[in-house]
Amino acid sequence: MKYNFDEIIERRGTDCVKYDAVKEIFGCDDILPLWVADMDFRAPDCVYNALARRVEHPVYGYTFLSPRWKPSIKRWLARRYSWSVKYEEIGFVGGIVPALAFAIECFTKPGDGVLIQSPVYHPYTHVTADHGRRVVTNRLLLVDGQYRIDFDDFERKAKECRLFLLCHPHNPGGRVWRRDELGRMADICKRNNVLVVSDEIHCDMMLRGYTHIPFATINDDAAQNCITLMAASKTFNIAGLKSSYHIIKNPEIRARYSEYLRINELDFAPLFSTEPIAAAYDEGEEWLGQMLQYVEANIDYVQQFIEKNLPRLSMIRPEASYLIFIDARGLELGHDSLVRFFVEQAKVGLNDGAMFGPGGEGFMRMNVGCPRATLEEAMHRIKEAYDRL
Ligand SMILES: Cc1ncc(COP(=O)(O)O)c(C=O)c1O
Repeated sequence: MKYNFDEIIERRGTDCVKYDAVKEIFGCDDILPLWVADMDFRAPDCVYNALARRVEHPVYGYTFLSPRWKPSIKRWLARRYSWSVKYEEIGFVGGIVPALAFAIECFTKPGDGVLIQSPVYHPYTHVTADHGRRVVTNRLLLVDGQYRIDFDDFERKAKECRLFLLCHPHNPGGRVWRRDELGRMADICKRNNVLVVSDEIHCDMMLRGYTHIPFATINDDAAQNCITLMAASKTFNIAGLKSSYHIIKNPEIRARYSEYLRINELDFAPLFSTEPIAAAYDEGEEWLGQMLQYVEANIDYVQQFIEKNLPRLSMIRPEASYLIFIDARGLELGHDSLVRFFVEQAKVGLNDGAMFGPGGEGFMRMNVGCPRATLEEAMHRIKEAYDRL
């Protein structure tokens, strides 16, 4: 490997959420954190260099979008997904969760139903409820160790909704939705007049044998009834730059969403938010390939470790990204004791599965975007606690 993903980088003291908020989140300092979804790897050099070049210039005034930004996105989508997008279909938005909130504000009214598939990335619920909209949950089915969609329930629920927040690939669980599944969801949403917001933030991190199909490329109906949200933030470990983008093919939906962003001045790209993204897309692909190989080996390691040492646990093997949903129901601990087991006994900081909504109870989410040594330490801590149970 050209890049050294084994490197241990001290992140404490950088105001980073993952390490520096451990005491606040878990109640003690001696926790090995494998929770919030960023990685412990150094960002690719091309990103660092783009930032450093700009930092060197000592005036940090107002800027506009880097002229490299849209062309780099267009090339990225064409190269990786055979998806042809026009420049006018791409717009800046400062973060995917804010973009979800703006879509809710822009396309629904208080009291309207917003469809989500649970268990799911928790801000989907909060952002909906906090805006006074109704959270309508299509529970995913866990079949043969991975999530499937209950389409009858999906259709029933879609009838009472205006908007569907699709998590593609899905978090937690790392499910990569297939063409047939996307097609059925697209068809149901179209027939029931439900606008789809497809959050594809994890899409660049496909693991062995899986392919990402952007929702909007399924067919013309899907393309015309969809806001796609993408970012380089997870892909290249630059989530702190809060830089993402929307792609909207339908001119009316695009005009309405863009106007909402414009009048609230939400389409304004901060200084460090577009040039490093262009650099990552244009020059970071080799780094990405190697990072994914490293993460895949980490996933293999955890799977083998669990099979060998922790027979009452199992895991949903992710098809994309670096988050493993561990099924700890076999410990039969109940919610509070389970959380205490990982925090107080094992001293590892994972995400409590229950926070992802119905269906997440009894699971814990582990982030394996870290050096192998960190992961080994975490697994051994869990084993010691497990053996004491
Ligand atoms: C599915 C999903 N969407 C959005 C986000 C966060 O996006 P942002 O930081 O751009 O708001 C995450 C972060 O973990 C995520 O997993």
